[in-house]
Amino acid sequence: MKSLILTLLTATCLAAPSPPAQSPLQPATITIDLATRYQEIDGFGFSSAFQRSADIRGKKGLSPENTTRVIEYLFSNTDGAGLSILRNGIGSSQNTTKDFMNSIAPTSPGSPDAPLNYTWDHIDTEQVWLSQQALSHGVRTIYADAWSAPAYMKTNNNDSNGGMLCGVTGTDCPTGDWRQSYANYLVQYLRFYQQEGINLTHVGFLNEPDLIVYYASMVSSGTQAADVLPILRSTLDAAGFSHVEIACCEATGWQEQGDMLTEIQLAGAEDTMGVVASHGYSSQPKLPLPTTKKVWQTEWADLDGTWTTHWDVLGKAGEGLVWANHIQNAIRLSNCSAFIYWQGAENTTGNSALISFAPGDEVHVSKRLWAMGQFSRFVKPGSVRVEAEVSLPLLHSTAYEMVEGGVALVVINNGHVDYETEISVRGGKGGAGMMTPWVTNNDFNATAQEGVQVSEGGSWRVTIPARSMVTYVM
Ligand SMILES: *[C@@H]1O[C@H](CO)[C@@H](O)[C@H](O)[C@H]1NC(C)=O
Ligand SMILES: *[C@@H]1O[C@H](CO)[C@@H](O)[C@H](O)[C@H]1NC(C)=O
Ligand SMILES: *[C@@H]1O[C@H](CO)[C@@H](O)[C@H](O)[C@H]1NC(C)=O
Ligand SMILES: *[C@@H]1O[C@H](CO)[C@@H](O)[C@H](O)[C@H]1NC(C)=O
Ligand SMILES: *[C@@H]1O[C@H](CO)[C@@H](O)[C@H](O)[C@H]1NC(C)=O
Ligand SMILES: *[C@@H]1O[C@H](CO)[C@@H](O)[C@H](O)[C@H]1NC(C)=O
Ligand SMILES: *[C@@H]1O[C@H](CO)[C@@H](O)[C@H](O)[C@H]1NC(C)=O
Ligand SMILES: *[C@@H]1O[C@H](CO)[C@@H](O)[C@H](O)[C@H]1NC(C)=O
Repeated sequence: MKSLILTLLTATCLAAPSPPAQSPLQPATITIDLATRYQEIDGFGFSSAFQRSADIRGKKGLSPENTTRVIEYLFSNTDGAGLSILRNGIGSSQNTTKDFMNSIAPTSPGSPDAPLNYTWDHIDTEQVWLSQQALSHGVRTIYADAWSAPAYMKTNNNDSNGGMLCGVTGTDCPTGDWRQSYANYLVQYLRFYQQEGINLTHVGFLNEPDLIVYYASMVSSGTQAADVLPILRSTLDAAGFSHVEIACCEATGWQEQGDMLTEIQLAGAEDTMGVVASHGYSSQPKLPLPTTKKVWQTEWADLDGTWTTHWDVLGKAGEGLVWANHIQNAIRLSNCSAFIYWQGAENTTGNSALISFAPGDEVHVSKRLWAMGQFSRFVKPGSVRVEAEVSLPLLHSTAYEMVEGGVALVVINNGHVDYETEISVRGGKGGAGMMTPWVTNNDFNATAQEGVQVSEGGSWRVTIPARSMVTYVM
């Protein structure tokens, strides 16, 4: 209590023009209610598309020692963020120049009815290797997403620059309807991975279909996606991949994905989707999408700022605390079951990745990685979100019944003072025990603090530090 009052006084003297939001004599409360259950969590992850897997493996000069370090930071549950989802890119390019992802059928077979001319290099721009690294660290969810169909299947005969898949509503290609051929192509990609001992769990056939860009891209409306979804679903089922879920449609933002979803629902194709997938760029996840399907935030990053390892210094878009709140909001407000950052690690001077290895043979870890880790280390796939009622809105909170048993509470104190807080669990078996707080802030990276005693009734009292993220694990 003494230290709390000191903190409050210091903060008040230094900056705060208004009094603290709460009297220090009245602790805030967080009540976890195990009986009020929300979405199941599938996990937290990153992508390594566009040859970043090759870069992690040392293509541009990263040493083997630092390749290992990067892998551990991403996947290790003790030395890293313990990430549990990998998002690969299914290639559409004719070659691997620049950062292109090569296609498994780069040349046209002449017509949509002819069998595709497959070629498999066992590398897939090192995504096979990265998938194996992920598997060996316990990752079980590997999602492969195509940015585009190969050029010869599209209206613009180019895998870049937008264009549509021949055969969907509004297209009339001289070569015919390539929808079934594209579905066969995606299934063959799953087979190649299976041959490498890698079972992909999710597949997607679009990426940012509301955006035309100079790299691999393919335009689609929701209606057009609905023209493909049932074909892909039945092709997967017929090929023995009925357990593989389709994720769709990776629109640039929540609003855009919401519009696509409405069109898919109107076309009666929603049930073919396993996951409604959206990015966070053009509009952020702050509302639930109207669906009973699982919802994933599958790609987002700060693409504008210069590289930062700050947690909370200038309040810039790449800082860790900002991302802690993005993840918490996606889960709490948008019912997300997964949160996937853009790149895991790359040679960059921006914030597009969680880890940077520019310049030279160096590894820099952002606080964004530890914000992900505050969830991912504890909230493993299969965990279920439960109610966390908070008396003080500054303490953004979510709670989980962990898949291996026990409860995890993730709290972000967005306030500028420490708050004494009484935390209790309702609906549990009860019983005293120890609870460990893990903290990320300007001083710590998902670091365990001294254990706290939980009372017989299942409650404990803590001081939640200002501008910090704490995961309480019981
Ligand atoms: C990062 O990129 C720069 C510039 O292309 C290059 O000089 C450097 O060797 C690269 N470092 C790594 C580790 O890839
Ligand atoms: C590589 O593939 C792209 C299209 O995927 C093509 O535009 C380019 O000409 C190819 N480059 C080489 C060197 O083959
Ligand atoms: C099949 O692809 C290979 C290269 O991947 C090429 O050499 C061959 O000519 C192609 N066959 C047909 C029938 O297009
Ligand atoms: C992949 O799936 C197949 C078929 O369901 C199964 O037999 C195999 O054991 C799985 N392999 C791995 C590495 O999980
Ligand atoms: C495909 O689009 C890319 C990117 O705009 C362009 O550089 C390339 O020349 C195009 N290829 C063809 C065959 O039109
Ligand atoms: C949240 O998502 C789950 C599926 O993960 C679904 O059953 C539930 O209806 C969704 N709730 C809301 C409010 O959207
Ligand atoms: C690896 O990265 C670290 C941290 O940036 C750096 O100090 C070291 O020189 C790099 N190379 C090796 C071989 O450890
Ligand atoms: C952990 O956090 C401290 C303080 O913020 C920082 O100096 C250190 O480099 C971080 N370590 C890693 C591996 O990110």
